[in-house]
Amino acid sequence: MELIDGKAISAEIKDELKLKVEKLKSEGKEGCLAVIQVGNDPASSIYVKNKKKACEYIGIGSVSYELSENTSEEKLLGVIDDLNKNPDITGILVQLPLPSSICEDNIIKAISPEKDVDGFHPVNVGNLCGGRDCFVSCTPAGVIELLKRSNVDISGKSCVVIGRSNIVGKPMALLMLKENATVTICHSKTPNLKEVASKADILIVAMGKPKFVGAEYVKKGAVVIDVGIHRDENNKMCGDVDFEAVKDIASKITPVPGGVGPMTIAMLMKNCVKAIENK
Ligand code: GUN
Repeated sequence: MELIDGKAISAEIKDELKLKVEKLKSEGKEGCLAVIQVGNDPASSIYVKNKKKACEYIGIGSVSYELSENTSEEKLLGVIDDLNKNPDITGILVQLPLPSSICEDNIIKAISPEKDVDGFHPVNVGNLCGGRDCFVSCTPAGVIELLKRSNVDISGKSCVVIGRSNIVGKPMALLMLKENATVTICHSKTPNLKEVASKADILIVAMGKPKFVGAEYVKKGAVVIDVGIHRDENNKMCGDVDFEAVKDIASKITPVPGGVGPMTIAMLMKNCVKAIENK
């Protein structure tokens, strides 16, 4: 089994982007990412901090808006409207999840598609679906980059995606299709999950259940990508895949931590640079 080192690949990408940002600056093109967090969910605070740190590393500006838990939808829409109109702001990111009093969909739709570095706006999702250039959701884009930079052939391979979320599962399936894989999407209502998953050459797991995928789900020699992030009973980080059970069956596998996680931020930075280039 070969480990797919997301931390190293992410570092490589951020270094490439750093050079690109320097070049853009020399051409007079600069940008700034606005990061909005509503409430103080501890996991979100860590993600937001890491996103700002990555901006600093590659040399782009960032501003953060820390709004209280009881911020109204109108107030948040007002902040987004100001950022949409501000020419110095090239990217806007609203950290999810939002408090239940705010409709996530209304917020996503309010962000200008040209500044939607998360790739969540319906215009970007529609363009992804139509195979046009667009901002692509960062986690699934990161998985494609991990596969390519680990020399995994995708074309003609059978790919099973477990999970159908708007942020990961659905765009993941579209991206694998674009790379000419034969794609199957499974989810919680799929009755014969083990049977379907164990046919995959490339198995991508984004179901949100700690250590759910064991040996019986994996074909000998398959490439296994684990998108899950959880803490197990010993407070140790783990994914949706039971790593110990699967590691000797897979030909290549992503660890948790250090697999897909770091790639999400690298792809966000890639989208931020793309937004500056498009300005
Ligand atoms: N919450 C979990 N993942 C994400 C993400 O990729 N972007 C944003 N904005 N919020 C998230």
